Amino acid sequence: MTRAHALLLESVHATAAEVLGGHDVEATRLPTALAEDELIAALQQLPGDGPVVVGLRSKTHVTPRVFEQAPRLSAIGCFCIGTDQVALDVARRRGVAVFNAPFSSTRSVAELVIAEVVMLSRQIFGRSKAAHEGRWDKSAVGAHEVRGKTLGIVGYGHIGSQVSILAEALGMQVLFFDIDKRLPLGNANTVDTLPELLQASDFVSLHVPDTDLTRGMMGPSEIEAMKPGSFLLNLSRGKVVDIAALGKALRSGHLAGAAVDVYPREPASTKEPFESELRGLDNVILTPHIGGSTQEAQANIGREVASAVGRYLKQGTTSGSVTLPPLDLALPRAARTGKASRIVNVHHNVPGVLSAINQVVADSGVNIVGQALATVDDIGLLFIDVPLADDDAKADGLRQGISALETSVRTRLLAL
Ligand code: NAI
Repeated sequence: MTRAHALLLESVHATAAEVLGGHDVEATRLPTALAEDELIAALQQLPGDGPVVVGLRSKTHVTPRVFEQAPRLSAIGCFCIGTDQVALDVARRRGVAVFNAPFSSTRSVAELVIAEVVMLSRQIFGRSKAAHEGRWDKSAVGAHEVRGKTLGIVGYGHIGSQVSILAEALGMQVLFFDIDKRLPLGNANTVDTLPELLQASDFVSLHVPDTDLTRGMMGPSEIEAMKPGSFLLNLSRGKVVDIAALGKALRSGHLAGAAVDVYPREPASTKEPFESELRGLDNVILTPHIGGSTQEAQANIGREVASAVGRYLKQGTTSGSVTLPPLDLALPRAARTGKASRIVNVHHNVPGVLSAINQVVADSGVNIVGQALATVDDIGLLFIDVPLADDDAKADGLRQGISALETSVRTRLLAL
């Protein structure tokens, strides 16, 4: 197979190029984003005729025109959480795998939550500000240890469960509420309803995604239901908390403090001002959506996305792809002898498609040693493993035969 090339933009971490290199992908790193025409030109200029990958963060946009003008584009790595910058529908229809890194910053967020729990409990933010301004605010009034206090976690997924472990290490008692059944880690206890958690917690930390159910989930009545003198932390998504209700509860003294990292409206760049009615309130830590912004998270993101892209190019596996159905199939025994290849076929999921593909294989007289199918809506992904080396003319004949079917979107032959 002709060597794959990756164009990594926007200073994607160096770990990405290293991992891609390990998968025999030649990577070029650029520090900046590229505009549409620049991106098309750069992709068209990549050498050879093998598959091409783009790696980007939030600023480069992969538009329908980019897909049209760069037909070698096979995979896109979004080295971030969001994927809005890519025309996902077009990617899907063209059989282009798009990957992102939803979980690489888990630890970074969890550490900041724990740090803020302690900071809020000791009123550090206000006292530090006073010291900077030349005031000596030395007092124990309102300052508490967190040991023995109850932390209520809403959403016990990747981040929530990490926070749970770290909080217990500080001697806190952990309660959590999740809409799905989750195994409690350590000594954490689960509760059945959100009100139960709110009534029992000294600190409430939110770790849910942005969905119809979670938008506004901490509204006036939920905030009212929290313990007097308790604290609210939101490092999840901005619309989960009703900011006006939170501001009111902080001003009235019902809540003793809050830490907020995400907002319903956030500035689009560092040049825009940040507006929020929480500005200027006592014992409120405001951070500019940096919960996951650490060098370690960036390095993890580089590794996580690059390894998904590398495995996709080499073996066709799509676990974690936001555009193609998830499919993984163990390598066949024949792969150990270098005498196996995999046909990876993305197709329109219509009646009769599988029998047409299998007819091509049957007509060729080639035996199948492994086969797997996954579908999502109108797109299907099929692996066919055959005991032939990828440079065997029969294997390439099969690829061509399957590729020629009207239902086929993209068909590759991979050496295993
Ligand atoms: P996850 O998907 O691993 O966990 C989310 C959990 O919330 C799941 O267990 C799910 O069942 C639960 N959940 C969903 N709806 C719920 C509801 N209505 N009530 C109770 N539980 C519910 O997600 P992960 O990785 O832990 O991320 C959590 C949040 O943190 C996400 O919103 C993510 O966008 C945000 N995040 C923020 C960052 C920052 O920089 N501040 C960085 C990384 C993630």
